[in-house]
Amino acid sequence: MAIFVHYLSILLISAVIFLLLRAYRLRRLRLPPGNLGLPFVGETLQLISAYKTENPEPFIDERAKRHGSVFTTHVFGEPTVFSADPETNRFILQNEGKLFECSYPGSISNLLGKHSLLLMKGNLHKRMHSLTMSFANSSIIKDQLLVDIDRLIRLNLDSWTDRILLMEATKKITFELAVKQLMSFDPGEWSESLRKQYVLVIEGFFTVPLPLFSATYRRAIKARREVAEALSKMVKERREEYEKGERKNDMLGALLGGEWEDDQLSNEQIVDFMVALLVAGYETTSTIMTLAVKFLTQTPLALAQLKEEHDGIRLKKSGSEGLQWSDYKSMPFTQCVINETLRVANIISGVFRRTVTDVNIKGYTIPKGWKVFASFRAVHLDHDHFKDARTFNPWRWKNNNLGTSCSGNFYTPFGGGPRLCPGYELARVEISVFLHHLVTQFSWVPAEEDKLVFFPTTRTQKRFPINLQRRR
Ligand code: HEM
Repeated sequence: MAIFVHYLSILLISAVIFLLLRAYRLRRLRLPPGNLGLPFVGETLQLISAYKTENPEPFIDERAKRHGSVFTTHVFGEPTVFSADPETNRFILQNEGKLFECSYPGSISNLLGKHSLLLMKGNLHKRMHSLTMSFANSSIIKDQLLVDIDRLIRLNLDSWTDRILLMEATKKITFELAVKQLMSFDPGEWSESLRKQYVLVIEGFFTVPLPLFSATYRRAIKARREVAEALSKMVKERREEYEKGERKNDMLGALLGGEWEDDQLSNEQIVDFMVALLVAGYETTSTIMTLAVKFLTQTPLALAQLKEEHDGIRLKKSGSEGLQWSDYKSMPFTQCVINETLRVANIISGVFRRTVTDVNIKGYTIPKGWKVFASFRAVHLDHDHFKDARTFNPWRWKNNNLGTSCSGNFYTPFGGGPRLCPGYELARVEISVFLHHLVTQFSWVPAEEDKLVFFPTTRTQKRFPINLQRRR
């Protein structure tokens, strides 16, 4: 007993010394100003309750007003430096891999798998990122992917009834597109059962990653295993075909055929990689499709102009003739609508990173190992950078060459630096083709009042039910 008390005292004294030293070190560093809130929970509850409303801006606005555009808070169990400053955001994005590294909550990284591109670091990340970019660049979309994007979107819209949940319908579209692009499968039973498992995996991203306490998380782990099994089986078959000289022109073909430093990529690496691509492209693009329709419905002048643009394209075509690259390139107002939806809706409201060393920013020091959050949303909705920033106004992009590029400090819906979204062009094309077929084939009205919320993801509360009428 005496020994136990002795060890306990040593442990307690060491813990107190450690905390005092840490407090002393933090006091010496000049941290960005801010408030760490309550012990343990910090300001997490305020953040969550703000993001559950249609207007989460006050969370950042109030703190930025009090402390400046780079401030310290404490969310999700850790002190975190928030940046609502475009220059600082750029600095964070550009210094990925040098001063910062990506950092996802445990719930997400466990379910993604350790070989996911989203978690990869160093040289392998560079190579896999550029491989993904090369697979989704304009010339591949133009020469290979556009035909299927057009065909599969049309196929989906043909099956629509007079009332749909738009959020669900667009998710089905983007999942089918991703499966086709990754592994050349047309929609069918296999892809539908994969999608159902997939939805469960994604639900697990937003729960406590403790299987003992969360049934959703347990379900997500099981679904992740089933997704991995289905994909592994398919990768194995494709590898055997590849070895016999049968090559397919899809992302999986590129992964099987790549010349890698240390041998080939294993099946497990390929599966993790594919899971990440499905995650990254599926929810994001479908949410922007849905929200573009929501904002257009609320802005009749913009909807009329969009219809005019697409009716013009349709007029030059016979019957159900597919869209060509030149058609995509002649949709300037559609690009304005997409830019504005990305700006206002901010589905990726910002990115978390972790400092790998003490980092000096704007005269402050962020200690090594701290989390930072580069908020794109705060910049996109700042009146200093965008006039009437909180109003949906697609015309603001009319004469702006930011329209098709992803650079610029102020407008970063696709991030930037070494982790710039490799699917940015693909997403734009998919959304454009979707809007084309939607507005040329249907008119619609919302079936119910539906509210936009931002936590845990950006979405409408009722999945945007609409009543449809065919135009032709
Ligand atoms: C509107 C749709 C989309 C939006 C708003 C979006 C946004 C983003 C953002 C902001 C990042 C950067 C994350 C970071 O820096 O940590 C990112 C990364 C990524 N995106 Fe997208 N994305 C979209 C669609 C797509 C599509 C269609 C694909 C499929 C190819 C895709 C694949 C990826 C991948 C693989 C990454 C990780 C890159 C890395 O960590 O190196 N995204 N996306």
